[in-house]
Amino acid sequence: MAKRLTLIDFFCGAGGFSEGFRQAGFDIVYATDFWKPAIDTFQLNNPGTEVVRADVLQLDAADVPHADVIIGGPPCTEFSGSKRGGHGDFKKGLILVTRYLHFIYKLKPRWWIMENVPRLLQSLPHKFTLKELGIDEPGYFEIPKLKVFTAADFGAPQKRTRLFSGRYPDPIQTHAETPQASLFGGRYKKWVAMRHVIESYPDPFGKPSPNGMVKDPNYDIDVSELELTDHFGDHSLMSMEEAERNKRQKVAHPYYGKMKFPDDLDRPARTVMATQFNASRETMVIEAKRGRKTVYRKPTIREAASLQCYPINYKFVGNNPTTKYKLVGNSVPAKLPYAVAKAILEEAGIKPPRVALNPPIQSE
Ligand SMILES: C[S@@+](CC[C@H](N)C(=O)[O-])C[C@H]1O[C@@H](n2cnc3c(N)ncnc32)[C@H](O)[C@@H]1O
Repeated sequence: MAKRLTLIDFFCGAGGFSEGFRQAGFDIVYATDFWKPAIDTFQLNNPGTEVVRADVLQLDAADVPHADVIIGGPPCTEFSGSKRGGHGDFKKGLILVTRYLHFIYKLKPRWWIMENVPRLLQSLPHKFTLKELGIDEPGYFEIPKLKVFTAADFGAPQKRTRLFSGRYPDPIQTHAETPQASLFGGRYKKWVAMRHVIESYPDPFGKPSPNGMVKDPNYDIDVSELELTDHFGDHSLMSMEEAERNKRQKVAHPYYGKMKFPDDLDRPARTVMATQFNASRETMVIEAKRGRKTVYRKPTIREAASLQCYPINYKFVGNNPTTKYKLVGNSVPAKLPYAVAKAILEEAGIKPPRVALNPPIQSE
């Protein structure tokens, strides 16, 4: 049997970051988060993984197994808030970042990635004292590499940008805004447009057709409309008043620039957000028909999941749409980590194994 590299995911969320590595054949041996819907979702879609619910600040490196690769996306909301105010507690903003680096130092994986929002590129220190990482030894820990990537350049139907810090080989870009000669010979494909996702799905306000099939917009997988979850119903619908307010925010804002209303379906989607405020400028808006009436809606949870490159049959565990949108919106679009995972396999001299695109869902 071909060798499989092992992986650990800190702050695993619903599992988008790991999903890219799973598709490249990595063995996800351990994942952790302190939010129950995240743990339940991760475990359901990754039944072979030891998934541990814990606060990373309480977790001990001695209780975490060894792995070839460690990935993790420590949230840094405090940090961004403090940056805006200018007087925030910089150290407090970095607590989860330094905790993550503590594990990297202790567990010493061959490859590791820390994922953050790109604005951290300017402010994230590249070098920490070991004391700052909670290690009682003299010396320093240096982050070897910091680079910002755009998910659309790797085939995601979304323009999300992410900062990857760590030790990892560069992923090979596959897509570009306009098809053009690539750096490595051959040509980049054109960015995948949001329309490709939205038009892959049946009308969310209709009923699933008993014989209808839906083709995953990102992968070679089909599901029947009857099996399609998180799509049908009214959860994506905006009231006319919400749509009106959203439009005003986008086309007539007193000091921010003009934005498209509804969204331009011929480009990759803007960043999928974890919180869906119907009237916010960040919210994506799609024009739709409900019966004969023109209405406005957000992407459904399933469409948002496809924009984040989750396979069509990935299951999200949550009691309400808000929780599921948050699970989806928090994620790294799997196509970006998949490209990094392939570069790691190449560096390790391992042929990418054949892996089922379907997540191996635990039977309920
Ligand atoms: C940005 S999300 C990670 C998303 C994930 N990488 C993915 O691609 O799906 C950050 C996660 O960190 C978790 N988290 C925040 N603070 C934590 C803490 N102190 N201990 C453990 N998990 C924490 C949150 O519950 C959330 O699921």
